[in-house]
Amino acid sequence: MTETKSIRVAINGYGVIGKRVADAVLAQDDMDLAGVADVVTDWRLRPVVSKEIALFGATHEHANAMTDAGLTVSGVLDDLLGQADVVVDCTPKRVAAKNIETYRTREIRFIIHGGEKHEVTGHSFVAESSFDSAIGRESTRVVSCNTTSIVRTLSTLKWAGLLKRARGTLLRRATDPWESHQGGIMNTLVPEPEIPSHQGPDAQSVDPDLDVVTMAVKVPETLAHLHYWSVQLTRPAEKEEVLEAFRASSRIALIRTKDGLAAINTVKELMADLGRPHDSLYEVALWEDMLKVERDELFYAYMVDNQAIVIPETIDAIRALTGLESDADSSIARTNASLGIRQRFF
Ligand SMILES: NC(=O)c1ccc[n+]([C@@H]2O[C@H](COP(=O)([O-])OP(=O)(O)OC[C@H]3O[C@@H](n4cnc5c(N)ncnc54)[C@H](O)[C@@H]3O)[C@@H](O)[C@H]2O)c1
Repeated sequence: MTETKSIRVAINGYGVIGKRVADAVLAQDDMDLAGVADVVTDWRLRPVVSKEIALFGATHEHANAMTDAGLTVSGVLDDLLGQADVVVDCTPKRVAAKNIETYRTREIRFIIHGGEKHEVTGHSFVAESSFDSAIGRESTRVVSCNTTSIVRTLSTLKWAGLLKRARGTLLRRATDPWESHQGGIMNTLVPEPEIPSHQGPDAQSVDPDLDVVTMAVKVPETLAHLHYWSVQLTRPAEKEEVLEAFRASSRIALIRTKDGLAAINTVKELMADLGRPHDSLYEVALWEDMLKVERDELFYAYMVDNQAIVIPETIDAIRALTGLESDADSSIARTNASLGIRQRFF
């Protein structure tokens, strides 16, 4: 029996994250996409038309410019908010923080993303860790791609009673592929000037118990991030015990170099071959055969598709805020099934 769709979702900002959230909302059988709002008028909005998604200008000026560019416009952001139960703000860093006054005035629930600070909503979201505390809230912040991966992985070690402290080095992609003609770095590596980098403290905004320090360096590629972790365990452990702990997250996929998945480009190619929208890797792809345990020390590496990892979290955040689902596991299972998320690719 087909379930009646009940929650209407608005998306403000149809960029890297916004367009992926839109596709994911369309894949849910308990949500409707009310429409998307943006400020641009070029090729980036053409898929909105072809997917028959209602398009809105952020303001009347933007709506008029869209009309002049030959786009069919359904109104302005304010109209869109009037047709939705929740808005997912996917505008660039620091723009979302300015929009929240509008959302509060309209008394609409809202989700912001990792470019904003924890204080903007007072709640930070990773589905497996903070779904319950988000239920019924006015707002939450889906944390950044790197932070999502850190919370997903370290939480599993914590649940297994294995985590003492974790230290990670993050190799961060230089820019997103679609805008690599506009900037990015080439033939250099750029260390973040401060240790710790912000991702470790940010993970603590979801789970203050995590003893985590991160260091980060920007690298000259656009495919994904790569993390290297060194973890002090609470006691000596076997490799299989650690792998079993990681299997407790449905959003960590164990991969093997010996299957040919020896680099981030091969994993992205596999996602394309699996027919995933935008070649999305929603899972943390963690190398099982590289992982090493030396008594009470653990070492491992994983890949984070920065453009995709926060998409399932956003879908779960919609269910939590709107009360569409009160059980984290049920929401996660539903999202995973709709997006084809798995713990193994073959
Ligand atoms: N790109 C990533 O890898 C990534 C990963 C995780 C989280 N995030 C976070 O997600 C959020 C969105 O980032 P993004 O990479 O999708 O940005 P983006 O620049 O790709 O897209 C932003 C979109 O918002 C539109 N926009 C700009 N100002 C607007 C306004 N006032 N009203 C409506 N639309 C407006 C832009 O035209 C663009 O389409 C940020 O908080 C970012 O930190 C990004």
